[in-house]
Amino acid sequence: MTEKLLHIALRIYDAQKELSAPDAELLQEAKAALSKSYSPYSKFEVGAAVRLVNGAVLSGANQENAAYPMCLCAEQVTLATAASLHPGVAIESIAITVRSQLKTITEPASPCGACRQVLCETESRHQHSIRVILQGETGQIFTLERAGDLMPLSFDGSFLE
Ligand code: THU
Repeated sequence: MTEKLLHIALRIYDAQKELSAPDAELLQEAKAALSKSYSPYSKFEVGAAVRLVNGAVLSGANQENAAYPMCLCAEQVTLATAASLHPGVAIESIAITVRSQLKTITEPASPCGACRQVLCETESRHQHSIRVILQGETGQIFTLERAGDLMPLSFDGSFLE
């Protein structure tokens, strides 16, 4: 038996002003996107913004449905929008933020498992890592240099070849 330790590099910032200017701007775009959330059921707003390698910045928010499983996560809305408007263009970074109408969220909320899977697929389809920037409504900001770090040992298309 061998035991393998997997490491991820998580950078933790106490304030937005510590981020690079492009990352701070992208986080602001994600916060602005919270107003596009349609979340009457969960009262949990998620905003996401992506910066593409061609410089375009796009954002999206979660879209809920009375048939709960049909709810669309902000990350997937935003990644699908980017793929539709800029086909074939790699994503450089994504900022994700949350706001609840029920309480103040003071910690970064990580993407759900399904969104991690989609982020990993997006990295592999473009052969380009995606920097992830996370913040709650307030509090610390986490960044990771690649979305794949959120999902070690992930399933990917190589298994299907
Ligand atoms: N949600 C997202 O938009 N992204 C995630 O990664 C996790 C959850 C949304 C879906 C639903 O509208 C609400 O948050 C509560 O789960």
